[in-house]
Amino acid sequence: MRSIMLLNAKGGCGKSTLASNLASYYAAEGKKVALVDFDPQKSSLEWLAVRSADDWEILGIDGTVKELKIPRNLDVVIYDVPAGISGKDLTAMVKRAQTIIIPVLPSPIDIRAASHFIRDLLLVGKVSRKQTKIAVVANRVRENTLVFHKLEKFLKSLKIPFVATLRDTQNYIRAEERGLGIFELAPSLVAHDVEQWEPLLKWLRSKRSMPQA
Ligand SMILES: Nc1ncnc2c1ncn2[C@@H]1O[C@H](COP(=O)(O)OP(=O)(O)OP(=O)(O)O)[C@@H](O)[C@H]1O
Ligand SMILES: [Mg+2]
Repeated sequence: MRSIMLLNAKGGCGKSTLASNLASYYAAEGKKVALVDFDPQKSSLEWLAVRSADDWEILGIDGTVKELKIPRNLDVVIYDVPAGISGKDLTAMVKRAQTIIIPVLPSPIDIRAASHFIRDLLLVGKVSRKQTKIAVVANRVRENTLVFHKLEKFLKSLKIPFVATLRDTQNYIRAEERGLGIFELAPSLVAHDVEQWEPLLKWLRSKRSMPQA
């Protein structure tokens, strides 16, 4: 079973948006997918509740319950983790995932926070770089954004890939409102966005995003 976690201590960077879109991508591929929502605000579960019976099936799991049980017969499990996670909670959380995706917004504050968070992830989260693969995705990027240079340099020094840049677009809002992912909207509307996801999906298909055996 493939396990992918959306993680960043910073709020509002797109963890739930990327989690729901990834879940819908894998579901549309015919995979058996679960979306585990650790956020007490339950944004991912609320998104799932809007989906209709005709949409690709995604199993919603409330991650906030005491005895969390994940069915074993799944192909992919996506974890949506709330902001503000740190310390022991972070250490316990990262153990669940083979792959961690960190969305980062293109503001200097968010970029600085992401650098601190990645340090925490390695030091406090004690992520084993062999057991857990990490990548960063730039989210809500407007054209000609140059602010990622510092982050790119920092990531390079840690050998963490910067795998994709997603633009700021109402398409994510449109999809979200209907309990869909962009992959389920009219292809003509989302062609550019689907193209922007491709490097992330390619990385997720590759061994580079999987733990070393
Ligand atoms: N690429 C994008 N383009 C436009 N809007 C976006 C994009 N990504 C996310 N958003 C919007 O930004 C807001 C925050 O996104 P989201 O809820 O996914 O972040 P989050 O990291 O899960 O937040 P929290 O830390 O509160 O859980 C939402 O309203 C979402 O619709
Ligand atoms: Mg969220």
